[in-house]
Amino acid sequence: MIQRQKGCNDIFGRNAKVWKYIDHVVDALMEKYNYNYIRTPIFEATELFHRGVGETTDIVTKESYDFVDKGGRNITLRPEGTAGVVRAYIENKMYGDPNQPVKVYYNGTMYRYERPQSGRDRELTQFGMEILGSDDPLADAEIISAAVNLYKALGLKEIKVNINSLGDSESRDNYRKALVEYFRPKIKDLCEDCQERLEKNPLRILDCKFDAGNEIIVNAPKTLDYLNEASRDRFEAVQDLLDVMQIEYVIDPNIVRGLDYYNHTVFEIEAKVEGFGANNVLGGGGRYNGLVNQLDGPETPCVGFATGIGRLAMAIELEKVKLPIIEDVDLFLMYVNEDEKKYAAYLAQELRMNDFIVETEYTGRSLKAQFKQADRLNAKFICILNSEDLNNNEVHIKNNMTKEEEVISLDALIYYLDEKLRDFEELDDECECDNHEEGHKCCGGHGECGCGHHHEEE
Ligand code: HAM
Repeated sequence: MIQRQKGCNDIFGRNAKVWKYIDHVVDALMEKYNYNYIRTPIFEATELFHRGVGETTDIVTKESYDFVDKGGRNITLRPEGTAGVVRAYIENKMYGDPNQPVKVYYNGTMYRYERPQSGRDRELTQFGMEILGSDDPLADAEIISAAVNLYKALGLKEIKVNINSLGDSESRDNYRKALVEYFRPKIKDLCEDCQERLEKNPLRILDCKFDAGNEIIVNAPKTLDYLNEASRDRFEAVQDLLDVMQIEYVIDPNIVRGLDYYNHTVFEIEAKVEGFGANNVLGGGGRYNGLVNQLDGPETPCVGFATGIGRLAMAIELEKVKLPIIEDVDLFLMYVNEDEKKYAAYLAQELRMNDFIVETEYTGRSLKAQFKQADRLNAKFICILNSEDLNNNEVHIKNNMTKEEEVISLDALIYYLDEKLRDFEELDDECECDNHEEGHKCCGGHGECGCGHHHEEE
């Protein structure tokens, strides 16, 4: 049997519904913030990531999916979305658009050749948002607040926002020097990769996966002590705006991020819910004022954020968030003989075109087995089609919760279902107890569903 590749996932069943729901919430949120959807290619020239994400980052040195295509080009499967968006911004001269800043979002697969474990995949999906063309701290605060609002909109409560600043290039240079001085006498006690990073890019020692937690790294100088006045003022302005927006955050001087393009604000949002494991960072981002210029575009200050959809789905399940996911059908059409089957086909077509969720029988089951199937599908109503009723232009319809059965005129079926399903929706709104079996709705206070609530008496 051919199996899926390591670190890749098949998303199906309930999990797929959660993913689709997240996509839906993302799109609705981005509409409110007025971001435009952008779709860039999954593969790009290898050079883009070397120059964009950084030659010495793990993402480029160890985790890159590189290949040479049939035309001899060096190609890389994108490990993240920002570099591709910046390439598209430059190539399509979006900086010339009078409507500035450019605010875009994406939601797609990325590839990182990492050691697979819970929350760390080789094929991952990221939602990301970027503001290109604004240096205003308001843009930083908007990105952080949008990230928090996304998690809130998805019903997540147990999150923690950690922010830090790497400062401008002068501050970063001073910090770099301090790190080299600090690590040089101790570097022999760190891994070989870190020894190489010392001269090339000492900041990368701080996010070394191998030496994570090592005292030498924990006690290293902190970025905030090396910020010049302008960078400090800028960081304070971001914090003031977050306070105004009532976004709770913690300043964490250990956050440096694993990609090279950042300066000034950096942030990560953690899932605090129990059971997450080591990879509990739901999302992260920050300012990258130098990247557009570094990739041959004009000086353009930018800020952005990305979150892994897989980790989000995991947090939703661990926090047991109840999502408004449809896990039932409005009507199951039952039949036995060929004439009834044709009628089922006709009715299914008619009702689906009128927005009802309709299921029917496809495998020749007995009526008894069809009842079981209707239960498995959580059908709210069941129509038992039989030739005699059809000749009389009638249909037997059964409320699958109350088990009440009625005979109604076929002409009235749409109207009947509309009315009855509205009652169901009202009951749904009304009954918020946790006593219903997974996926089952309240019976309406008659007692059959066993939730113990009697709405009519309330
Ligand atoms: P990142 O921190 O590398 O940032 O990734 C953002 C998020 O993607 C992570 O917090 C995590 O949820 C998810 N993620 C990353 N790697 C994996 C993996 N192997 N398996 C599952 N999920 C993963 C960036 O990618 C930046 N481009 C963010 C950004 C946008 N900065 C500015 N604009």
